[in-house]
Amino acid sequence: IRVDWDAVTAEKGGFEHFMLKEIHEQPKAYRDTMLGRIDNETKKVQLPELKMTEEQIKNIRNVQIIACGTAYHAGLVGRTVIEQLVRIPVETDVASEYRYRSPIVSKDTLVIVVSQSGETADTLAALREAQSNGAHVLAITNVVGSSIARDADDVIATLAGPEIAVASTKAYTSQLIAFNLLGLYLAQVRGTQTAEEIAHTLAAMQALPEQVESMLEQAEAIKGYAEQISKHEHLFFIGRGLDYAVAQEGSLKLKEISYIHSEAYAAGELKHGTLALIEDGIPVIALATQENVLEKTVSNIKEVKARGADVLAITYEEHVAPLLKSVDQAFAIPKTLPLLSPALSVVALQLLAYYASLALGHDVDKPRNLAKSVTVE
Ligand code: G6P
Repeated sequence: IRVDWDAVTAEKGGFEHFMLKEIHEQPKAYRDTMLGRIDNETKKVQLPELKMTEEQIKNIRNVQIIACGTAYHAGLVGRTVIEQLVRIPVETDVASEYRYRSPIVSKDTLVIVVSQSGETADTLAALREAQSNGAHVLAITNVVGSSIARDADDVIATLAGPEIAVASTKAYTSQLIAFNLLGLYLAQVRGTQTAEEIAHTLAAMQALPEQVESMLEQAEAIKGYAEQISKHEHLFFIGRGLDYAVAQEGSLKLKEISYIHSEAYAAGELKHGTLALIEDGIPVIALATQENVLEKTVSNIKEVKARGADVLAITYEEHVAPLLKSVDQAFAIPKTLPLLSPALSVVALQLLAYYASLALGHDVDKPRNLAKSVTVE
């Protein structure tokens, strides 16, 4: 027998592309990033790797999250997670902007840099800028021996395993897990969440890997929709709150590998300009998982529908039937807590970008003009 075999094919573990393999590795990445950090007896978060003392944590007055690209989008989610759980002000900025805007930092500022590779030049420079101004810098990174990990005062490693595809998937979602663990830990120390609330969130986090597995089984439905949108030149992603943060990541993913132009918009902001671009047949992907603003999102969906948009909603099963009165198609994701929904909804958008790129015949793993790690400024 002759077996066609090469090292790269073997590394892809039976998947056609690294990106698809990495999307499927997410349940494992979630589990690995949580492993040993949740005490199942006390139902508490433990982050023994942190050098920050309880005293330092209690003194934190504000948080700044700095990153580039997909890691920046994880930081947008991280902002809401920390603000909601810890009730301290958080801002998120892209590293190339932050480092040149004379950031206002004190010794009670916690600066969190997020980087899959730990080598991104702008993020590393921002880290040094923050440190030289006296901030305590915590890195969330996937590469423990990286420059960013070495220079930071504290490190939380995401345990996603090596990521090869240029378009980041499992690194992003494991960053979301890291942010939730960190947020809960800070809340535990500062007493801003009760023990029951923390236990409840941890249980919901532990359910995520299986929920992602169930979503991956529905990949065919997304593939069909991806083939439809691959025929379009422009499309929009809309959402509110964390759905807006995920919309931004979904839009970036699609741009990176399918080269389809898309914009992510805060749903309530559309009417202040962008609505002018909505015309007959334009696809709009509406993320509708944040139930506190669901009604508001539905009215924004109606605004685009009235201008002829073709709307796909991504929401929970229980909202599919009522939403189908206003949208053309809906994709249901498993139910979770509001702060955790990005860890599920984004998987649908990763698959969407993947299948759109595939339908267009592009090089999924190595998109034009992009590099996995950008070590120049
Ligand atoms: C590059 C990659 C992106 C990535 C960004 C930040 O632009 O193409 O996928 O999000 O760098 O990378 P980092 O390693 O710092 O997370």
